[in-house]
Amino acid sequence: MDFKELRNKYVSFFESKGHKHISSSSLIPENDPTVLFTTAGMHPLVPYLLGQPHPEGKRLVDWQKCIRTGDIDDVGDPAHLTFFEMLGNWSLGDYFKKEAISWSYEFLIKELGFKPEQLHVTVFEGDADAPRDEESAGYWESLGIPKERIHFKPKEDNWWGPAGTTGPCGPDTEMFIDTGLPACSDKCGPGCHCGKYIEIWNNVFMQYNKQEDGTFIPLSQKNVDTGMGIERTVAMLSGKKSVYETDIFKPIINKIEQLSGTTYGSDEDTSRAIRIIADHIRTATFIIGDERGISPSNVGAGYVLRRLIRRSVRFGKKLGINKAFLADIAQVVIDMMSQFYPELIQNKQRIFDELSAEEAKFETTLQTGLNEFNKVAGKLAEHNQTGISGKTAFKLYDTYGFPLELTLELAKEKNMTVDVDGFNEQYTKHKEESRTASKGTFKAGLADHAEETTNLHSATHLLHAALRKVLGDHVQQKGSNITQERLRFDFSHPQKVTPEQLKEVEDLVNEQIQKKMPITMEVMTLEEAKAQGALAFFTSKYGEKVKVYTMGDFSKEVCGGPHAQNTGDLGRFVIKKEEASSAGVRRIKAVLVKE
Ligand code: ALA
Repeated sequence: MDFKELRNKYVSFFESKGHKHISSSSLIPENDPTVLFTTAGMHPLVPYLLGQPHPEGKRLVDWQKCIRTGDIDDVGDPAHLTFFEMLGNWSLGDYFKKEAISWSYEFLIKELGFKPEQLHVTVFEGDADAPRDEESAGYWESLGIPKERIHFKPKEDNWWGPAGTTGPCGPDTEMFIDTGLPACSDKCGPGCHCGKYIEIWNNVFMQYNKQEDGTFIPLSQKNVDTGMGIERTVAMLSGKKSVYETDIFKPIINKIEQLSGTTYGSDEDTSRAIRIIADHIRTATFIIGDERGISPSNVGAGYVLRRLIRRSVRFGKKLGINKAFLADIAQVVIDMMSQFYPELIQNKQRIFDELSAEEAKFETTLQTGLNEFNKVAGKLAEHNQTGISGKTAFKLYDTYGFPLELTLELAKEKNMTVDVDGFNEQYTKHKEESRTASKGTFKAGLADHAEETTNLHSATHLLHAALRKVLGDHVQQKGSNITQERLRFDFSHPQKVTPEQLKEVEDLVNEQIQKKMPITMEVMTLEEAKAQGALAFFTSKYGEKVKVYTMGDFSKEVCGGPHAQNTGDLGRFVIKKEEASSAGVRRIKAVLVKE
């Protein structure tokens, strides 16, 4: 079964159980500064897991593009991926453990054809925060899984979430396929990384909200959040040991082989380099091609992107590729994936341009940087020293664009070490020095629905509408980030907004606040929303239902909410700053002052 068939089967199966198919959300979380990327299918659904009604109802199913960057340094082995797709089904305060478990079993055995004997499951053993999950174990047993294949495990293993630092989470039950390999030791079991047991699906029973102080309080509703990794499941279904041996990677790997004249599997170094490039450029293509796509930079998600691209270029060189090649690989990714993610086609040119620009930029700095590195390493060797100082590592980073990881890798090749703490010291110092007024510490995450953030969210809609009235209809939201203290809004506009225009925008927003207009919400299809003139820039693709928030006749926008009840609740709107965000995109920071 290939990855197309698997996703279709999954969606149809859960549709037959009353679920609505929703589309994948952006990889860049909009209002959650505690994470850089969407890491799971539940992430965009946090407000609904916390109790807001979802326009499509209480049962949802989707595939979601996800990135987990914690693993970048591990990528290269046959198992790790930075980008993956997650299939998921949700109950938002509807069905719970019994249905979730029995449908999981039915899908795995009847639809996918795994043998019942291949299946091992884990359940939560219980602690001070939540009881031992005998209930889930009981459901597994009633389906025929014998006790010895039901493993009770502690929180480190059988508790999932929150996605950031606060928010919905709970005990889970995980499903593993026994690959039939021999056990690596007496202790080998689900959770062991030797390759015998592969986890393919997780059912999380989200009934707690983790607070900033680390405590768990019960949610108003009991939810189910599940996640099945497409790549791993396809590997298991096709009897492959590695995700890189599946059809999901075959065309990408073929392209790299063709560009480099190497063969995957010929030796471990070659295979590792090919896996790194395949993984990283797949991820980079999705980050740049996202509906909220970003560019390589030296901070946050942009820095992760830069590392992925630069690491690929370097491993490309190791394979003997001596020309620009990233766009060629991106093309393969786009060809394979755009049927599921049409944004990749829409943003195709941007993907090619950004990849090629970063590749060229790295090329020029790399040569100078390598010379510098070799000079330093040579000098150290002359003195029989092997330690590269934090200062040198930082200079390589700052002046030559070497990510720390690259310096570490080069050092390792020469049996040298790098003073990472020293590097971090320099890095922090530099960051503090170059930090401007925007030195905000971000406290509020998605999970934080305090009054302040809700009001700022409503103010963002007024700002969006006001900008379009003052500057023109070319203005489109490109990003938004809200903390308890301020809103930050990115929008398309080719030049600086003049002080007069800013004043006009500010006045217009304040006028709407003074009018004390009710803020209302209606659920409708995207087509209806658009027909009514609602702004809808980051929306779904399947004609599913959306929420439309209206503020008088001034603003109408498709949005998940939440919002204030009345514009009169917002306070006085003050623009603090207007600056460039990236090419053709401006950024406004603004606050609400309580009157
Ligand atoms: N959110 C759960 C996971 O990512 C399903 O494993």
